[in-house]
Amino acid sequence: MKFKSLHIIPTIFLLFFCLVLISSCNNESNKKMSNKEIIEQKVDSILELMTLEEKIGQMTQVRHFWDIRKNDVTSKFIGSVIHTDGPAPGNNAEEWQNRFVELQKEALATRLGIPLLFGVDAVHGQNTFEGATIFPHNIGLGATQNAKLVEKVARITAIESQATGFNWVFSPCIAIPFNEKWGRVYEAFSESTELTVELTKASVKGHQGNLSDSTTVMATAKHFIGDGSTENGVEGGITTLSAANVNERLLTPYREAVKSGIGAVMAAFNIYEGLPMHAHKKLITDTLKVGMKFDGIVVSDWKGYSRFGRHTIINAGIDMVMAVDGDLDFFQNDLKESVDAAKVSIERINDAVKRVLRQKFRLGLFQNPFPTKSLIQEIGKKAHRTVAKQAVRESLVLLKNEKNVLPIDKKTKKIVVVGEHANNAGLQSGGWTIAWQGGNENYKGATTILDGIKNVSEGTIVYDEDGTGNHFDADVAIVVVGEPPYAEFFGDIGHDSNELTLTLAKSHQKHIKTYKDKGVKVITVLISGRPLVVTNQINQSNAFVAAWLPGSEGDGIAEVLFGDYNFKGKLPHSWPKFVKDFKGNYGPNFWDNSIEPLFPFGFGLQYEE
Ligand code: BGC
Repeated sequence: MKFKSLHIIPTIFLLFFCLVLISSCNNESNKKMSNKEIIEQKVDSILELMTLEEKIGQMTQVRHFWDIRKNDVTSKFIGSVIHTDGPAPGNNAEEWQNRFVELQKEALATRLGIPLLFGVDAVHGQNTFEGATIFPHNIGLGATQNAKLVEKVARITAIESQATGFNWVFSPCIAIPFNEKWGRVYEAFSESTELTVELTKASVKGHQGNLSDSTTVMATAKHFIGDGSTENGVEGGITTLSAANVNERLLTPYREAVKSGIGAVMAAFNIYEGLPMHAHKKLITDTLKVGMKFDGIVVSDWKGYSRFGRHTIINAGIDMVMAVDGDLDFFQNDLKESVDAAKVSIERINDAVKRVLRQKFRLGLFQNPFPTKSLIQEIGKKAHRTVAKQAVRESLVLLKNEKNVLPIDKKTKKIVVVGEHANNAGLQSGGWTIAWQGGNENYKGATTILDGIKNVSEGTIVYDEDGTGNHFDADVAIVVVGEPPYAEFFGDIGHDSNELTLTLAKSHQKHIKTYKDKGVKVITVLISGRPLVVTNQINQSNAFVAAWLPGSEGDGIAEVLFGDYNFKGKLPHSWPKFVKDFKGNYGPNFWDNSIEPLFPFGFGLQYEE
């Protein structure tokens, strides 16, 4: 203890002295120094004081549970802590904040007192916190084509993330999905590069705003690059697109993200040109850092160090490593040995650390390292849910409306609502909702599609959860069908772990057919993370709505079905006609002119006004 305090005082004094010196120099000799230059000077002055262990520490990211024990943050000089699937940091937002305050204090107790970055997978709202506002997944936001709205969504996500203790989100995913079989199609905005560019800019602006404010967060563009364009849509598979295609279709959103000031970029799991993307120096360093002038953090993905080539990923340009699941000591020791053995240059380490420190200064963490208590009241508040509900309404795409069966007259005497997805917030929200792979239960603060129908309708509503209720005397059946929740790996069609197909589950197909065969008018609402092959079900339905994964405000759907609002959504993906169209590596999307979609990109009907 004594030793520790003796050790700390001179260094802190030295650091303080340097900072004072720098700022007084600024005042006297160069009044025109930009904020950027001031930050660079501060970064350099800290870097000069750092040992190799402290530098490697700053390059380390861990989970706050399982990966670390008490005082590890201090003794291993950890640079960043994340929350992802796993034990919640507490029972309420205050406890979440307290957990991160406690860890921040550990970081501030190190010799140099460098604050931590706290990261979270807030990919459609602060979706790891039950009670937060959960927005439609990006595919739904893509359908809105509304950049202003996407900016608002990101702004609210930033506020609610800060309110639970985070200053960094691993969002937006700006992939261009080339195959509907990929289990992360819904994490991306669209198959269109142009639309993705517009929404990426809005998302970065909304999340980051003025980065040093205590209500904004650092955003992450992910996953660099080719995550959504692997052959057969396999997560972490092989991308075989030409360099020209990568440049034009995939890199353009990154160029715009960088121009918008994105703070971080996450490397992808896939392989390109025979190399794991984590080790692809040409793309990470030459293209992203040098070519695009990206001066933020390139963070690895899960266990990137041990999985993709150890020190070679650092040489390729990875600045911070997600050293999770047993990787922490291995990463720190192995990188140190690699530097000692001159396999990694100290210049590369210095560059990585400077990038981390730079973002910590930009976020204002040295002045303001703790979350703001008063933000807690912002979580899931009415005004935020109103924006989420608007996003739900605008994301709905009307694919068919035979004889104007929609909008439903509110006075309709009897309506039967069919299907488990109609009354289950977990199912309507998809993966990355409360749990990593999502869940099939209602969660706090959410409303369901059935709730909305009950609110709006003036007639009798009966609910037939499993499609065996035989309410054939109903005037209308609203049949809500869809996919179960899934996330990365487990959501790939063709993955051993699931029975997902490109079509609807047989039982859900039957819901539609059962009511159709009995002459009831069928309005089908599809809850899915991607377009599915539902050509027969569209034919059998009188009206068909693609609702994607709306999130917590399921009741917003009824407001459009019953005509309080018009449909606005336009398809963010071309919609496939036949399963056989998926025989190619890259699915039947718009780049293959020989395959005709059932509906083209941008399709979407509206009520006549
Ligand atoms: C995913 C990332 C995510 C990270 C942290 C990875 O497996 O690919 O998108 O940000 O986990 O949870």
